[in-house]
Amino acid sequence: PKSAPQTAPERRPIPTERTRTRPFDPPPDLGDLRTREPVCPVAMADGANGWLLTRHADVHAVLGDHQRFSSRGDLRSSALDSQVTAARAARPGEVNAVDPPEHTRLRRKLAGKFTTSRMARLSERITAIVDETLDRMERHGPPVDLVEAFASPVPSLVICELLGVDYAQRAEFQERTRQMLRLGAGAEQFVTAVEEMAGYVGRLVEAKRAAPTDDVLGALAADEELTTEEVSRMGLALLAAGHETTAHMLALGTFALLRHPDQLAALRADPGLVNGAVEELLRYLTIAQYGAERSATEDVEVGGRLIRRGEVVVPALMAANRDPQRFADPDALDVRRQAAGHVAFGFGIHQCLGQQLARIELRIGYRALLARFPTLRLAVPPQDVPLRTDSLTYGVAELPVEWDRTGH
Ligand code: HEM
Repeated sequence: PKSAPQTAPERRPIPTERTRTRPFDPPPDLGDLRTREPVCPVAMADGANGWLLTRHADVHAVLGDHQRFSSRGDLRSSALDSQVTAARAARPGEVNAVDPPEHTRLRRKLAGKFTTSRMARLSERITAIVDETLDRMERHGPPVDLVEAFASPVPSLVICELLGVDYAQRAEFQERTRQMLRLGAGAEQFVTAVEEMAGYVGRLVEAKRAAPTDDVLGALAADEELTTEEVSRMGLALLAAGHETTAHMLALGTFALLRHPDQLAALRADPGLVNGAVEELLRYLTIAQYGAERSATEDVEVGGRLIRRGEVVVPALMAANRDPQRFADPDALDVRRQAAGHVAFGFGIHQCLGQQLARIELRIGYRALLARFPTLRLAVPPQDVPLRTDSLTYGVAELPVEWDRTGH
């Protein structure tokens, strides 16, 4: 019954990616919960009271209501023990951890630097980066680990373009990023690695303040209304939010296509399907499985359950994107489907700021990879592909692939 008084509901742990039984499907518990208890009381990793949402409609409602569901960092609690999202006040410039009006100010500043002309130039650079990376992979010859050879370097070089890291420093920058991400967010050294990277970006910003450059970070640095610390944190956020996510989508998406030969064949036969295929892969894989937690600013009802002020709400994006009420035959990968309306980039005022850039990278990346290697296939049995279950976003740790050298 609606609004029945609730007394200390029994709280279950959140099903993490470790409980997945198939590489492309969410943990089976999430589907069960959507039917049985779509707004489910859960215990957060730090002991706080949480509510797990598995229906698309509820996830939409919560993410669309920033007034009653706050993103403030100091109210936050971690969904997964591997996440370092323990409550702490937002540092200056941390757009994802603040509410309006501060969010509006920072978001406008950032979005204003992702101009159409800058994105068009970036698009050309992405094509060049993808081609050069594929040249190297082809020269190396099969087999290769697609993560190391392609999926990781491409977004890293794109971030270098965004941040205006000059060519001489790119190897060092890539190595630092690799180290930071290899550690995984759970590790103690991760915090140190992030701080080191923050220092590095800070020095980059100082240099740009002295000698302006026409990249996104340069434009932010030239903005006198932003402090150096704010600009540095924004740069770091672009790096943190833009590298691993895109890398995981490139590799896991290729793995999914290779395991769905009919879909792969359709895409190869008609490369014009790539835009739709990217949306569908985003929906189907939903790599940012958690990470959009909110806390209730007042007592509020969601799906017939009473959420108390201060309690945490965990939108299970991957479950929402498999909701049969929203997508017909949701567990099928169908590159011809209308996947628009998925929440793989979140929803509402915090919806992914880099989504257009991510789409451009994925479209160019998949298309060029498939065109270059018409016989691309896994080099190991699919069950031997190591999954990345310890990172902020879901993915594969390695993807060994091979191809026929003769005429590719
Ligand atoms: C926010 C996913 C790529 C920058 C988000 C959110 C999600 C997400 C789910 C919302 C978090 C929330 O509501 O609390 C993804 C996925 C990506 C991707 C799946 C790749 C396929 C990128 C890229 C960039 C980026 C390439 C930038 C270069 C950001 C930023 C935010 C954000 C700055 C915070 C926005 C705000 O709070 O207003 N992303 N992202 N992301 N993303 Fe992405």
